[in-house]
Order: sequence, then structure tokens, then C-alpha cells
Amino acid sequence: EKDGYPSFMEKEIHEQPRAVSETLLGRTDAAGKLILDELRIDPEQLKQVNKIIVLACGTSAYAGQVAKYAIEHWCRIPTEVELSHEFRYRDPIVDGNTLIISISQSGETMDTLMAVRYAREQGAKTLAICNTNGSTIPRESDAVLYTHAGPEIAVASTKAFLAQITAAYLLGLYLAQLRGNKFQGEIKDLLADLHKTPEKIQTVLDNEAQIRDLAVAMKDAKSVLFLGRHVGFPVAMEGALKLKELAYIHAEGFAAGELKHGPIALIEDGQPVFVVVPSPNGRDSLHAKVVSNIQEIRARGAKTIVIAEEGDEAVREFAEHVFYIPATPTLLAPLLTTVPLQIFACALASAKGYDVDQPRNLAKSVTVE
Ligand code: BG6
Repeated sequence: EKDGYPSFMEKEIHEQPRAVSETLLGRTDAAGKLILDELRIDPEQLKQVNKIIVLACGTSAYAGQVAKYAIEHWCRIPTEVELSHEFRYRDPIVDGNTLIISISQSGETMDTLMAVRYAREQGAKTLAICNTNGSTIPRESDAVLYTHAGPEIAVASTKAFLAQITAAYLLGLYLAQLRGNKFQGEIKDLLADLHKTPEKIQTVLDNEAQIRDLAVAMKDAKSVLFLGRHVGFPVAMEGALKLKELAYIHAEGFAAGELKHGPIALIEDGQPVFVVVPSPNGRDSLHAKVVSNIQEIRARGAKTIVIAEEGDEAVREFAEHVFYIPATPTLLAPLLTTVPLQIFACALASAKGYDVDQPRNLAKSVTVE
């Protein structure tokens, strides 16, 4: 049942092109318009939404952070992301015009379920992004948008994460479409780009040998840092989480802009640092700023491993290793930049002889608060 892969995790990492394409399937009409009738929530109510709070835990919460960048940009609806277990204990402000988006692979995470219940009691509308048909969180929500990643067996999440991000993009574009805002023109293009991502993920997977070799060479690393900016920031945190979960190595993800406000003190000779570099064709001067971050840490002895867009030659001279991903619009990049980080963590943990499917102390779905 592992289809010849040594672990479920490797199988699931390689199923990601399909997890994304299946999640996209059947959700647009011939004219390229998004059809999400399955939501079972009155479009008029969705038009009234003036605040979104995304609730989730673990990897799903990082999918939520990616969702925030996309939804705010496309829909201009203020969007917060909060860990489910923090949410209901801080007297949050929610009302009938608040949309709660919960994200849960299993649909059974107790922390998230309790947060959704609480938000509902306060009168908020609740929408679940979930990978498990008929599970508790979607059953207790007003609406559900299923991800179609297929069953995820490995405890640490990979393909469900990409499917969650995909579903969040669909939802963001749908809300933008409903509200008829200035991004109408872009929606069609973005959907077309989204449909091209499964093939691009496959390209990343086809080049995995480079990152696997690096992982094996780094198997005795004591600490690995991850930097990213904009949507690359949650990707960096997910990269760090994967390494903690699978390889039991101290790892931390930082926002690249925050480096100079503290974390740069950690950089010493030989410290490995992954840097998720935004597209040079993306917005503002983000690319230049991240490249200068690479220079800063390199000058202090960091061993820099860079994930960059193909054709980005500017990063080469400051990087020990460059892993290129196909070009894609900035907001969609997490579907690609996450993949090498998953492969890295999985290959490194395997090189150490660890069971990547069942990491110590972790459970697939945590049904206690
Ligand atoms: C953790 C799992 O316990 O729960 C993580 O080990 C997962 O992999 C997190 O990201 C949240 O789970 P779910 O099912 O709510 O997405």
C-alpha cells in the first residue's frame, strides 16, 4: 500500500501533484468561473462578511497563514490567523459578520473543534476546510470545503498541507468573485496559474535527488534555521516544523525581515540556514531585501541553502546550494517552495534511521484539549 515507497510520507509527498489537482477538480465552470455551491452557505451572507479568523493547529495553521496573505490581497477582508487553543481563551471579538475558517486535515482536532463551537455560540459563521469526509468539525460547521488529498497516513502532514492551501486559494478567489471587487480580472488568470501548479510540483519532485543528497550530507546537523518573507514566512516555519517533527533537530523559522531584530545573533560559522527567496518578478523590492539578508548571514559564516525561482541568478553567489523551483505568481509559490523542505526533512530523518511515519510523541489527530 506504500506503492513501492519506503514510507507513507514519501508516498504522500509524491502524491502532491494529485492532491492539488483533485482539490481543484470540478470547482470551475467552462467559462473559468468558480462554482462553490457545495459550501451551502448563502452567498448573500458571505458578501456581508467583514472579518475572517482562520483557526487551526500545527501544519494546518501555517496553511492558514498563507491563506491570510491571499485572502486579504484578493478580497480586502481583514483576516487573522490564530491557533485554535489560544482563540477562545482570550475573549475574541466575533459577531454575525465574522467568518471563521477552520483548517483541519482530520476534522477531529479537539482544540480546533472547541474553538469552532465557541465561535458559533458567539454568532459567527463557520466554514471548515477539511480532508476527512463527515468528520466532526465539518459536521458542526455551517459550511465545508473539502480538500481532496486522499487519506493521509503519515503523522506529520504533507499532501494535506498543499491541498489546504489550494482550498484556501479557491475560497479567497470565490469571495473576491462574489464581492465583485477590483481583482475580477486577475481571478481567471490566477485560476489558470493554479491549474498549472500540479505539473510544476511534479518538476520539483523530479529534481529531488539534489535535496536528498544534501539532507544525507547534513544528517549530523544540530540546528537548522529557515528564513522567509511574505508567503515564504509560513513556508519557512513549516520547513522548521517538519524537521523538528521528523528528525528531532532543533529548527526555527523566522521572518527574514526580523533577522536583524534578534535572530541574527544565532548565526555563527557553519550554521545551516534555508532561505525561501521570493520571485524576482514579484511585488515591491522583496526579492532584493531577501537577497541582502542572505548576504548578511553569509558574511557571518552561515551555510546558506536557497530555494529560488528558476532563472534567479542573483542568489547564486551568496548560496552554498541553490534549489530552483518553476516560476509561479508570488501568492501561489508556497505550493512549490514547501516541497523541497518536506523532502529535506524526510530524507534527513530517514538517513538518521528514524521512522518518518510515526515520529516519537506525536499523534495523527489529537482528540484531547
Ligand atoms: C498534530 C499533527 O497533532 O495536529 C499535525 O501531528 C497536524 O501533523 C496537527 O498538523 C493539526 O491536525 P489537523 O488534523 O487538525 O489538521
